Amino acid sequence: MLILGVESSCDETGIALYDSAAGLLAHALHSQVAMHAEYGGVVPELASRDHIRRIVPLLRATLENAGKSLADIDAVAYTRGPGLSGALLVGCAFAESLALALDKPTIPVHHLEGHLLSPLLSRTPPTFPFVALLVSGGHTQLMRVTGVGAYELLGETLDDAAGEAFDKSAKLLGLPYPGGALLSKLAESGTAGVYALPRPMLHSGDLDFSFSGLKTAVLTLVREQPEPLSESFKADAARAFQEAIVEVLTKKALKAMKQTGLKQLVVAGGVGANKQLRATLDDEARRKRFRVYYPELEFCTDNGAMIALAGCLRLMAGAASKPAGAFAVQPRWPLMDIATTTSP
Ligand code: KG4
Ligand code: ZN
Repeated sequence: MLILGVESSCDETGIALYDSAAGLLAHALHSQVAMHAEYGGVVPELASRDHIRRIVPLLRATLENAGKSLADIDAVAYTRGPGLSGALLVGCAFAESLALALDKPTIPVHHLEGHLLSPLLSRTPPTFPFVALLVSGGHTQLMRVTGVGAYELLGETLDDAAGEAFDKSAKLLGLPYPGGALLSKLAESGTAGVYALPRPMLHSGDLDFSFSGLKTAVLTLVREQPEPLSESFKADAARAFQEAIVEVLTKKALKAMKQTGLKQLVVAGGVGANKQLRATLDDEARRKRFRVYYPELEFCTDNGAMIALAGCLRLMAGAASKPAGAFAVQPRWPLMDIATTTSP
């Protein structure tokens, strides 16, 4: 079965072809980061228009790289939500129309399920069950995953997501949008321990997170500094922020491992690209004798491959439907709404 995957939930247009037997055949991505950078954040209307411009050329390139034609496609998977409604509508309309024209089924995919299952694209994938730490721009969740659709929420952020905290703190330090990866790069040149930032909810006893206080602490730190901010201050503050967030994410993930007794941890979503988070989790995993899996770096942030893969797994579980002939997206859509079974 050959599945076409279409991702357009935010500021990346992703297209991929996933074969149920051979795996990922080809994928293509266009990031709108440069376009939105000028405005300091994603401009939804511009995002939708750019998806429209990119989606067909990306499909053509992906088909060509895979040596396939439209006629080879067996089903079309696309991100139904959550995300920006206009951006989602572009991918949805494109996928539903294409499927209708090809007389093939569609598989609407939950974007977070795509992230959650993305480590399965790796050469050495995890096996079910595992604990998932989902750390993206919009979500921070710990989950017990026992199969496709079998998700139990163990804990989540009560306010800002980890990626959001990275991006907002980066902005406070004067870094351009989207600052998460840049802040992380800057932190590498900073000295640890120069500034002490809080570790929110570290000892809350549960698996929930809260990051808005951390961002406020960065703001307070910035306000105490003379303008313009010195390069050494920015680097040391970035380091302090990263140390704090990595410690909280790591300790909560360790607590989830202990609580569930599972031996595999999957880290998914954009913040999963963070080097310090990876190094710290790897260290702890060696010490506590469990394994950590990350998606390949290119599949950490939004992409079409994870949507094609999730679509394929859902298709095999019987989830395909006839093209709707109508365009229904779900900009707000809790992941637990698609959990078919939850583990105890
Ligand atoms: O998963 P993703 O592409 O988007 C959502 O679905 O939300 O994640 C994007 C987030 C952004 O907040 C970005 O700043 C963050 O991931 N990010 C990073 C790094 N690379 C991307 N955060 C920390 N360190 C990185 N290296
Ligand atoms: Zn995402």
